[in-house]
Amino acid sequence: MLQSIAWQLTTVCVILLVLVFGYIAMNANSRSQVAADSVARARSWVFWVLVVIFVPTIGYTLTGLPYSPPNVRTGEPVHVNAVGHQWRWEVDPAQVPSRRSIEFHVTSADVNHGFAIYDADLKVVAQTQAMPGYTNVLHVNFDRPGTYRVLCLEYCGLAHHSMMTEITVTESD
Ligand code: CUA
Repeated sequence: MLQSIAWQLTTVCVILLVLVFGYIAMNANSRSQVAADSVARARSWVFWVLVVIFVPTIGYTLTGLPYSPPNVRTGEPVHVNAVGHQWRWEVDPAQVPSRRSIEFHVTSADVNHGFAIYDADLKVVAQTQAMPGYTNVLHVNFDRPGTYRVLCLEYCGLAHHSMMTEITVTESD
């Protein structure tokens, strides 16, 4: 939901940006003072529109930090170790129960990787960095059982695109 809103907003902003660039490009050769004035006026208008839109938006989205899932954590967390290698993931255990707090301990054996868990619709469920010499802890609560995919979100060399594995989420009892 939030992701599709962000996607639609980005699309609208990119289209607006292209229109502004197009307008400026088309008026670039006109030497008339009138045109220059109208460009200057449009520019300050666009600036204030952006300020009015983005400052509250940024303030609002920052209140959600650090964006942990809204689910209630139940019981002792299940620990999962995740290690990134060029170019594979080592996730142990690769099977976890649903509706439990899963605590991923994420690190890397070589370079920086991006540890990202995707659901069946290929939407990001959670993500953190896999860094050498450091362990990031990521809490995830899987609502639905099923097969989730782990992809690498940070370019880490030639076979970055093939860095994927699966996590099976089973029905919790
Ligand atoms: Cu590992 Cu990209």
